[in-house]
Amino acid sequence: MFQTERFIAECQAAIKESDALSAVKELVAGVVSEPTEVLRALGEPERSGVQTIYKAFDLTILNVCWGPRMEFHPHDHRMWAVIGIYGGCEQNTFYRRSKAGLTKHGAKALNGKDAIALGATIIHAVTNPLDQITGAIHVYGGDFFATPRSEWDPKTLEEHPYNVEHTMRAFEAANEQLRTKVTRT
Ligand SMILES: [Fe+2]
Repeated sequence: MFQTERFIAECQAAIKESDALSAVKELVAGVVSEPTEVLRALGEPERSGVQTIYKAFDLTILNVCWGPRMEFHPHDHRMWAVIGIYGGCEQNTFYRRSKAGLTKHGAKALNGKDAIALGATIIHAVTNPLDQITGAIHVYGGDFFATPRSEWDPKTLEEHPYNVEHTMRAFEAANEQLRTKVTRT
């Protein structure tokens, strides 16, 4: 059974292990293997957005709800990350730095019950390919909001400092589309 407070405590213990990334990945994989339990604890996602479950200097836990068809530009984290999907699908495109700015070097679709570990140097873009909200638990090995990092313009692939307001606008735009859709149907 998923309990938010217990999950936080288990993550706090896991990051103290010698291979923190593997320990957290195992933990998250276990949690999303029972998506109905996660939904019971966190609620059925109705809006796109980022809910902070826990934040400290060495650990951030987020409930990320991607809006239908939402596309999120390339970015890095500069800390390890674990993503676990409890509903929907998160399409990841991976990049490497290059003379052109960035070059694609792989893709991975994460579906319900999937969990993936990402190293600290990973650069990725995320798309929700579905007409429904995708729900994911994201765990980061640091303070996700306070760490300076980069994002890239999806068209020019130019690198810029990460802008949290830009992120919030992207989620709000997804919500606006959801509202329009609800009004139309
Ligand atoms: Fe990311």
